[in-house]
Amino acid sequence: MNAIRPRRLRSTGAIRRLVAETVPQVSSLVLPAFVAEGISVPRDIGSMPGVKQHSLDSLRAAAATAAELGLGGIMLFGIPASKDERGSAALDPAGVLCQAISAVKAETGDELIVMSDVCLDEFTSHGHCGVLDESGRVDNDATVELYRQMAVLHAESGVDVVAPSGMMDGQVGAIRESLDNAGQLNTAILAYTAKYASAFYGPFREAVDSSFTGNRRQYQQDPANRREALRELELDVAEGADMVMVKPASSYLDVLADVSAVSPVPVAAYQVSGEFAMVEAAAERGWIDREAAIDESLLSIARAGADIILTYWAAEVARRYVAGGRG
Ligand code: PBG
Repeated sequence: MNAIRPRRLRSTGAIRRLVAETVPQVSSLVLPAFVAEGISVPRDIGSMPGVKQHSLDSLRAAAATAAELGLGGIMLFGIPASKDERGSAALDPAGVLCQAISAVKAETGDELIVMSDVCLDEFTSHGHCGVLDESGRVDNDATVELYRQMAVLHAESGVDVVAPSGMMDGQVGAIRESLDNAGQLNTAILAYTAKYASAFYGPFREAVDSSFTGNRRQYQQDPANRREALRELELDVAEGADMVMVKPASSYLDVLADVSAVSPVPVAAYQVSGEFAMVEAAAERGWIDREAAIDESLLSIARAGADIILTYWAAEVARRYVAGGRG
């Protein structure tokens, strides 16, 4: 006979709930949302069933719902009507992202944390996250100058948190300096600290109408590397990051656990478009239990140490958690 029986604590739902180490929280979820310039009816994104390119009006409504559900925040991505080599539309104070920030802020006030993507890939014709030098490589320092201006514009539009996602060296410190010089002391920075050059961003390209081909291996991290994430963490924290992020989430839970074990600031993880699309596609074919897979994926990300989770399922799972009394 076995004297020790771990199954005792698994025998009913009530006891499993009692001893659960990780409890999903609606207030830790952030909904990424896309807004396209010049459309009045939201558009479907083929590879991301249920996710839309919003109009300003439908974005406002989605943000209001997010606030009502008690989500932690919304992360805004803008899709300009026209793109060019330098991503000029990103620096237009009347551009789509600035308009989206003020519209959402006006709608939800202090109820919902409004975050914005500070990056050029949605705005450049070539789809890279920065401007190119004569040899066609992404120019780190010239790009950071543009991120500075972009972050200040977002802050002036009322954003709570700017999220630089381009993996340029020095981007966090430069943005902090520019925000402070502009008097935007309360605008926080969520740094994309360990962002990997990942195949799982595939569907996002369609979501932001990107014509990008090639890869971002000259600036995003190599999926082979784990230790490097801690070096990026140290730098971002020293440069003034208020929060840090690991991205993608599911294939990088080891990195997430490492970062969360030592980070002095809150850690976010981004469950990206490909992670979303794979579950949706398998579920559509009846190959996987959709809701169970979604819940398990989010639980795993939280268990690995994420304090904050960005997920396209944020609103859906919030409804489910609240209904199930787990909010
Ligand atoms: C860059 C950015 C990307 C994503 C978020 N911010 C694309 C990339 O780095 O290639 C991907 C998010 C997703 O796949 O859900 N602005």
